[in-house]
Amino acid sequence: MKQSYITDSLEQHLFFARIMKEHAFFLKVGILPTNASLVREGERFLRQFEVQLARTIPMCHCVVRNRVLESGEVVTEFTDCAERQTHRLTGTFINLELTARTHQLEGRGCNDTLTVSPAMMRQVQQLNRDGLTLVEGIINYKERLLSSVGAGGLFIANYPLLIEHILREARLYRMHLMRLEGMEECSCQEVRDSELFWNRIMMEHAQFIRGLLDPCEEKLIDTADDYAAEYCRLLNAADAASDRTTCNEKDALTLTREFRDFKHAGTEGIGSCQIRSMILPLLADHVLREANHYIRLLEE
Ligand SMILES: [Fe+2]
Ligand SMILES: [Fe+2]
Repeated sequence: MKQSYITDSLEQHLFFARIMKEHAFFLKVGILPTNASLVREGERFLRQFEVQLARTIPMCHCVVRNRVLESGEVVTEFTDCAERQTHRLTGTFINLELTARTHQLEGRGCNDTLTVSPAMMRQVQQLNRDGLTLVEGIINYKERLLSSVGAGGLFIANYPLLIEHILREARLYRMHLMRLEGMEECSCQEVRDSELFWNRIMMEHAQFIRGLLDPCEEKLIDTADDYAAEYCRLLNAADAASDRTTCNEKDALTLTREFRDFKHAGTEGIGSCQIRSMILPLLADHVLREANHYIRLLEE
């Protein structure tokens, strides 16, 4: 119980704190200087999640599972380069040290036991509580941006659906932290919902990719459209099925592995300027990591 609380908490932060800092980054760089206070707020969340991640990393050493570190959900072979390029392109500083330290992490095998000290329990509990406060803050920020955009009061170089999408991802992080702090076991319902959740996320990634590619990238646009349609079919099938137990599990895994390969090639192509688009290298790497995360969840 204590062991799974510690491991689960740290694995959630290692994945989601990085995801949240990048959401803050994408929002911040998409807001014009006329909305200076919203830019500053985005910057503040970016730095606060960097701190959260910096606190998490040293606690993860030989505690988080190898399969998480090896899944490509926390960092990929592209992350460091994507961060350097994105920093250069936007002028917004990205702490590369966190990526280097994440690459150096050693994991724990599934048969290795973990000795949990009372100090470790306190530290992780504090990390979860601080994480909850932070994620509440960024949820509020995203909600305000979304309603301003919807009311015609704000221009931002991000689709409204993207703001809604990253808002849902933040709510998922909050849900995990609340579950951990309530010391509740994950129910089957949640697992099932997780598949619906991530299928929708994958569908939207395909839609964002198609919408941010240069119009001349016709083949890639068609492929992205096909992935969006495939995920839409999975979502509709799950909706229609009366017994929603894992009937689409194999489909989702096969599809997401293929989609991951597409994102992998896309991240490489964007980083090496072989693909024309409005996609920041770090955004390409971000959606690749989310696909890797979903694949690891499906494999478990
Ligand atoms: Fe995300
Ligand atoms: Fe996403």
